[in-house]
Amino acid sequence: MRLPLLAAVCCALLACAARRHCAEAAKARHFKWEISNMFWSPDCEEKVVIGINGQFPGPTIRARAGDTIHVELKNALHTEGVVIHWHGIRQIGTPWADGTAAISQCAINPEETFTYRFVVDKVLTTTEVLITNCLNVRGKRSTETEEFCSWLQPGTYFYHGHYGMQRAAGLYGSLIVDVTQGEEEPFKYDGELNLLLSDWYHESIHTQMVALSSKPFRWIGEPQSLLINGRGQFNCSMAAAHTPGATQCAAVNRQCAPVVLPVQPNKTYRLRVASTTSLASLNLAIGNHKLTVVEADGNYVDPFVVDDIDIYSGDSYSVLLTTDQDPSSNYWVSVGVRGRQPKTAPALAVLNYRPNGASKLPALAPPATPAWDDYEHSKAFTYRIRAHAGTPPPPATADRRIELLNTQNRMDGHIKWSINNVSMVLPATPYLGSLKLGLKSTLTAARPAEMFSRGYDVTLPPANPNTTVGDNVYVLAHNTTVDVVLQNANALAHNTSEVHPWHLHGHDFWVLGYGDGAYRGDAADEARLNLRDPPLRNTAVIFPYGWTALRFVADNPGVWAFHCHIEPHLHMGMGVVFAEAVDLVGKVPKQAVSCGATASALMNGDHL
Ligand code: C2O
Ligand code: CU
Repeated sequence: MRLPLLAAVCCALLACAARRHCAEAAKARHFKWEISNMFWSPDCEEKVVIGINGQFPGPTIRARAGDTIHVELKNALHTEGVVIHWHGIRQIGTPWADGTAAISQCAINPEETFTYRFVVDKVLTTTEVLITNCLNVRGKRSTETEEFCSWLQPGTYFYHGHYGMQRAAGLYGSLIVDVTQGEEEPFKYDGELNLLLSDWYHESIHTQMVALSSKPFRWIGEPQSLLINGRGQFNCSMAAAHTPGATQCAAVNRQCAPVVLPVQPNKTYRLRVASTTSLASLNLAIGNHKLTVVEADGNYVDPFVVDDIDIYSGDSYSVLLTTDQDPSSNYWVSVGVRGRQPKTAPALAVLNYRPNGASKLPALAPPATPAWDDYEHSKAFTYRIRAHAGTPPPPATADRRIELLNTQNRMDGHIKWSINNVSMVLPATPYLGSLKLGLKSTLTAARPAEMFSRGYDVTLPPANPNTTVGDNVYVLAHNTTVDVVLQNANALAHNTSEVHPWHLHGHDFWVLGYGDGAYRGDAADEARLNLRDPPLRNTAVIFPYGWTALRFVADNPGVWAFHCHIEPHLHMGMGVVFAEAVDLVGKVPKQAVSCGATASALMNGDHL
């Protein structure tokens, strides 16, 4: 049974009125940002970063679930366009505010201003699935009407540039959504600490993009440093006393000063950790302390205790930390590289037990990251992530299955990443505008493949290494349930298969399961799927030579990117686009899509 839209909206309003805090709490929060290049020393070497209002990283946005964010963004870069993507925010009803250049909007030109306006983060749809599955976050089934008020999604998010490789130039910041006033999180804590993790290259992103696109291909190598809240130390170690051969960092510049996390003994802290790295997969551990994982990508998870957590680019977590260790000491927080042979020193921060001084060096050595290629360790962590009680379960079956084979290929002497042997290139005219207006000429006529050959040998380099480029647009029908199987494979070199964290815009998906080797869709593969308590997330990893199965409901009309979150991989074509019920998208603000073929069509009298 499907509720008509009008009835649902009325019900939602009534429910809000009945629950006064719901009506009162939603606020509009206004921000005025100017984006510019500036000199900065993220790891004590001076370079150029993209900053916001003279800050790097950009300002933290803090809001309550249900609030409306307005960001009036002025592009003060000299010669480049810019956009900002709100990673993890579903943009329900506002797909034009998703901030993906050439997909959801035109890049904002230098000197232009564009206003992003969106709700964090609220489901307003009336789909059957949501009505039957909508439970409030603590697992109590609400009345149908109330669900529209209570289905809000607080959590740990971030924002970043989504044009070229601008994220890797430092265009990012935190976005934290608290529960609505009067609501409670399903866990308790006394204080909160926020860690936004990234990696940093000394070469400019322009040089990096040229290298990745050139013929012959030039690999950009590993990042020079890892940053915590935009600060790191290149070529020296704060923990030199514990690291043979390392030099102690000289007295530092404020821009690269070590991060200090002040805590009181015998309290519990919520540590928010998100990764916006360009390349590196990370692991975080804190000397002598256990971590309890409670949130992943804005969704509560069934709490579990670990010594360290893996964080792939695009992931966010909340972990609880109890300061129950010897209070006369400080402790190291250590962040190291996973999944690639590390050539980048771990990043360190100090967990500062007050009243010890912040500069008192911890007695213990920094915790060591697990061996970079210990995939069993990574899998053990990832497989333990289960939904918190009360998370809506996935629909029992899917209407469609899209299989995406990830390969590395060659094209006219260039190296590309391809999906079902097509490497994604973005068009001049953003999809949202051209599809809404039905401009056929802007899309490739042929639809991309939805299956890869059952005989494909994922353990070897591709038998046919040649690829082509295309727009990789999958058209999804409204309210259908879609399964996606991401299949990893051997890259061009023998015995090489990399980790790829895939991120979906506009939705959370259920991570149904993982497997090693080629997916066959047979009974054995089916048996690996978890339909009971799969976690809801917006980013999921594929392990080397393995597959990952996801399910989501196409209940958010718009055009959404789905791609590997590793910046150089996306630049090399590792992504697809889901065009979802574009005819049901509301009136697209003209400013968002007035470029390319859409601009001409609008001039000729077409209406969005
Ligand atoms: Cu955080 Cu499309 O990305
Ligand atoms: Cu990748």
